[in-house]
Amino acid sequence: MSEKSIQTPKGHAKAGFALITSENELRKQVWGWRGSGETIGLVPTMGALHGGHISLITKAKAHASKTIASIYVNETQFAEGEDLATYPRDHKRDCEMLKAAGCDLVYMPEKMYTDDHATRIALGGPAVGLESRTRSHFFAGVALIVTKLFNRVQPDLAVFGEKDYQQLLTIRRLTADLDMPVRIMCAPVMREPDGLAMSSRNRYFGAAARTIAGRLNVIMYECARRISDGDIIETATEIARKKILDAGFERVDYVAVADEKSLVLLNGHMGARPARLLIAAHCQGVRLIDNCAIH
Ligand code: PAF
Repeated sequence: MSEKSIQTPKGHAKAGFALITSENELRKQVWGWRGSGETIGLVPTMGALHGGHISLITKAKAHASKTIASIYVNETQFAEGEDLATYPRDHKRDCEMLKAAGCDLVYMPEKMYTDDHATRIALGGPAVGLESRTRSHFFAGVALIVTKLFNRVQPDLAVFGEKDYQQLLTIRRLTADLDMPVRIMCAPVMREPDGLAMSSRNRYFGAAARTIAGRLNVIMYECARRISDGDIIETATEIARKKILDAGFERVDYVAVADEKSLVLLNGHMGARPARLLIAAHCQGVRLIDNCAIH
């Protein structure tokens, strides 16, 4: 994909769509925009884009005058044995989708870490538990790449999906704790017609597994309804766990209810506290996560 942006005499894009791979070029472009009073919205992605990502671009465009999407499959958030090597990569299609969505610039670095990279970020608060129980490396890797992307792009705002709800809260905590001047915005989960949350990993499914995967959101919403109707959290989540297994999932990592802001786990009756139901389960070798608010 070698589409060029329209260059002004000062060397920065004025309009159109640009693909940039070099950090220097990126900085030049962003400085140029800043010099002309533009505001910058960033949507970090790992590519293999779907409607969920496009909704993030739409949100960024509504709040910033220039929108940048980054595409980088971040090795530090994958553990040994996970799908780093096979993670779907389709950069040509990604760029076409981004261009059609009105994104101004795609930043696609070849490398984000030097060979002697040694810095780690230790996270607490919302990063503890849930995903971290089975993927202990994950949020440290996300925090590193998001921090590095923020430092390179220096956006005014960045948009993340509520699909990765714990990731969203972790990034909010990280940016607040480290005084990063980036406004973190979110967009709701986008779903397929049967309610399956859109995810780049959905393309791993064969037809039979895909049908099973479509049950997860149905069971999740049923569970959320039971809890808001007054069921005890432990009872409702246990019923959901059994239903997920009965539907054909091979393993459930968690079905949990947590405070909407802190992600502290809740038990007993929900009460008036705004809460979120979060689920992770394995369907024919593909790990799915989903979540919804409990009203
Ligand atoms: O949500 C994702 O796709 C990734 O975790 C992110 C935020 C782009 C960091 O690699």
